[in-house]
Amino acid sequence: MDIKKSAFTLSAPSIGLCPKDNKIEYAFIGRSNVGKSSLINMLCNHKGLAKTSATPGKTLLINHFIINDSWYLVDLPGYGFAKRSKTVQQKLQQMISSYILQREQLVNLFVLIDIRHEQQKIDREFIDWLGESGVPFTIVFTKADKLGLVKAKQNAEKWMKQLEDSWEEQPPYFITSSEKRIGREELLNYIDEINKEIEAQ
Ligand code: GTP
Ligand code: MG
Repeated sequence: MDIKKSAFTLSAPSIGLCPKDNKIEYAFIGRSNVGKSSLINMLCNHKGLAKTSATPGKTLLINHFIINDSWYLVDLPGYGFAKRSKTVQQKLQQMISSYILQREQLVNLFVLIDIRHEQQKIDREFIDWLGESGVPFTIVFTKADKLGLVKAKQNAEKWMKQLEDSWEEQPPYFITSSEKRIGREELLNYIDEINKEIEAQ
């Protein structure tokens, strides 16, 4: 599958203000600065579609992008950005968790992990919570260009192996770089498979 058309639809401060046309959607979540917005732009081949920034905390709303006129990619704010005030942090957390738990159109959540780092408690707690809540998700390692593919693969495998202490089955995962456009085809094919399964229902 390729993305022929992508456009910004709207930014919502709460789930109640998200699009109401019942199209399916895929959302991107992860720590601030992990590369969510950059990945959306890379997948869509559309620079500047989602706003990116070298400073963490850029995305603050639920942003919908309509793809090929038929489904959405959703850019979410990052979690775990310590420099935000407690009130802002709590509000964002609440917005993100109600979106994840209540948005019926959400068919898969991509959880982004910076491939350079050891498994962080905040990411692990987040995916354990997804598991407990029964939310379908996929791990996407980002910034593989910063390591080189061999080291990136090693890190990803080690990260995934650590899940075995409480996860019976490994969730699917992908290794990507928005900079070098690594993993683009694999991710788009993965989305296409899900789209087809849903269409066939
Ligand atoms: P928030 O919206 O603040 O939560 O951040 P985000 O997760 O959307 O990250 P964003 O896409 O804005 O990227 C953050 C920084 O990382 C930017 O400076 C990007 O250029 C950089 N970046 C993102 N992806 C990659 C990548 O694959 N490789 C490299 N080298 N840099 C990347
Ligand atoms: Mg962002």
